[in-house]
Amino acid sequence: TTPLRLGIAGLGTVGTGVVKIVRQKAKLIEARAGRPVTISAVSARTRDKDRGVNLSDYAWEDDPVALASRDDVDLFVELMGGSDGPAKAATEAALSAGKDVVTANKAMLAHHGQALAEMAEANGAVLRFEAAVAGGIPVVKSLTEGLAGNEITRVMGVMNGTCNYILTRMQSGGLPYDEVFEEADKLGFLEADPTLDVGGIDAGHKLALLSAIAFGAQVNFDAVELEGIERVTITDIRHADDLGYRIKLLGVAQMTGRGLEQRMSPCLVPKRSPLGQLEGGTNMVVLEGDQVQQIVLRGPGAGEGPTASAVMGDVIDIARGFRCTTFGVPAAMLTEATPAKTATP
Ligand code: HSE
Repeated sequence: TTPLRLGIAGLGTVGTGVVKIVRQKAKLIEARAGRPVTISAVSARTRDKDRGVNLSDYAWEDDPVALASRDDVDLFVELMGGSDGPAKAATEAALSAGKDVVTANKAMLAHHGQALAEMAEANGAVLRFEAAVAGGIPVVKSLTEGLAGNEITRVMGVMNGTCNYILTRMQSGGLPYDEVFEEADKLGFLEADPTLDVGGIDAGHKLALLSAIAFGAQVNFDAVELEGIERVTITDIRHADDLGYRIKLLGVAQMTGRGLEQRMSPCLVPKRSPLGQLEGGTNMVVLEGDQVQQIVLRGPGAGEGPTASAVMGDVIDIARGFRCTTFGVPAAMLTEATPAKTATP
């Protein structure tokens, strides 16, 4: 049988994790995919760096566009990050050549998801992004596949591990924001630009992606009403505690009389609820559908193993021959997202 040959761009935490799984789990992957999955070539910013994994079997490309364009690459795995620049250029190169793409890039999809989904479909390619939302939690597949028979009524979640860690530590340790921020940095969950985390932007990207699938709306990050956790004080947290609540950076997407509402902001949640008990860097997504009522998914939202797990789920689906649209329906059927409300007085 013909192998599925990967080109992997980006060898940070996630990329390295994917290489390890492909190398160490070859038999299992082949059994599940029905064909071998191999790596032809890799690319990263720095070549000479010990990543704890042997890369000598693979061709090296400095330029991710060249990697995506290689004849021996069937599937382009984009793990570089960044909403524009090389990640987008290489993704477009792959899709326009009709090659499938698997990406973990929430920022790129939150800003260009509609155009990229259209490009994928126009070229008969598949673009999948399970790893972009809530790391190891298979929430994209839950919506596009498992819950496809439901009308989704609401999607909620804590989707940024850094913020949840900071808020949890402020609460449990009685520590001020700045001190806890330093701790979070050491965990390695932070985005390269941590304002993406604490400003709620990273979580907002993820919510915009889930909203698109859940409500058939075009991905529109600007339609997300956004507030980060920078202004949450230890006093806020204490008062919330006294009243029986925890403060969480919570995303909510739901259809209302005014259209699709997408909000990412610090919210009070009851201490004893599943969301209230979510500690540390963990993520939780609550999906509500007319048939299923409510599903709660909880798990690691970042890190090498969990995020590489999500990437491999997409890779193996594609190796099996599974074809699907990016957001669960053809891109042309997605309606415009309702704009965010302008600031209320
Ligand atoms: N910075 C993100 C987080 C990483 O803290 O959740 C995973 O997207």
